[in-house]
Amino acid sequence: MPVTTCIFDAYGTLFDVAAAARIAAAEPEREAFAAKWPQIAADWRAKQLQYTWLRAVSDTHTDFWQVTQDGLDYALEAAGLATPELRKRLLALYFELAAFPEVPVMLAQLKDAGLKTGILSNGSPDMLDAAVHSAGIGNTLDAVLSVQSVGVFKPHRSVYDMVGQHFSCVPDQVLFVSSNGWDAAYAAHYGFNTVWVNRAGEPMDRLPTKPQYILSDLTGIPELATNL
Ligand code: LAC
Repeated sequence: MPVTTCIFDAYGTLFDVAAAARIAAAEPEREAFAAKWPQIAADWRAKQLQYTWLRAVSDTHTDFWQVTQDGLDYALEAAGLATPELRKRLLALYFELAAFPEVPVMLAQLKDAGLKTGILSNGSPDMLDAAVHSAGIGNTLDAVLSVQSVGVFKPHRSVYDMVGQHFSCVPDQVLFVSSNGWDAAYAAHYGFNTVWVNRAGEPMDRLPTKPQYILSDLTGIPELATNL
């Protein structure tokens, strides 16, 4: 069945999650942070995601902005750099993350090819609105779907159900794109055609289902989506 709908994860896939720490590290008078920022960014992301999974399995959902703050607080304390000013600056940068450079053209090519496009993200609606707006990609997205409306984080099935409910399509008509190996694996398990965007050359996650396609960035998505 041809693909009609191309759905993207947000954080790490369309938006560069390391950009917040990278930009802050280049600012004046941040030598201590600049020396440790890659580890802090990695801890921030790892804790943010762990907290989503723990909250999903323990039925203690909260919004993604809360787990983003909680992950950052853990990472800054672990690095011995927990100051209110640095915390505030990193959160402000995270709220308006830049998109990866190929994103606007890639989305425009999908629209030109007649495909539906959307985001399916753990992000809360206000976070996603801010990032979509600052990246200037709102006019090439048909929908921005947040887990907030189902009250549980990925990879719960009810999150992936939102795509068919919104676009009136079956999983086989969807190409799902994520840079998170676990998200791509469970989207494939759900039944979507799935691309794992493996920018960093990471090993494949050992999970029940593997994504069908692996790309190193998003430039090949329109060609893939129109040839399935
Ligand atoms: C999201 C996270 C998983 O956007 O990156 O859903």
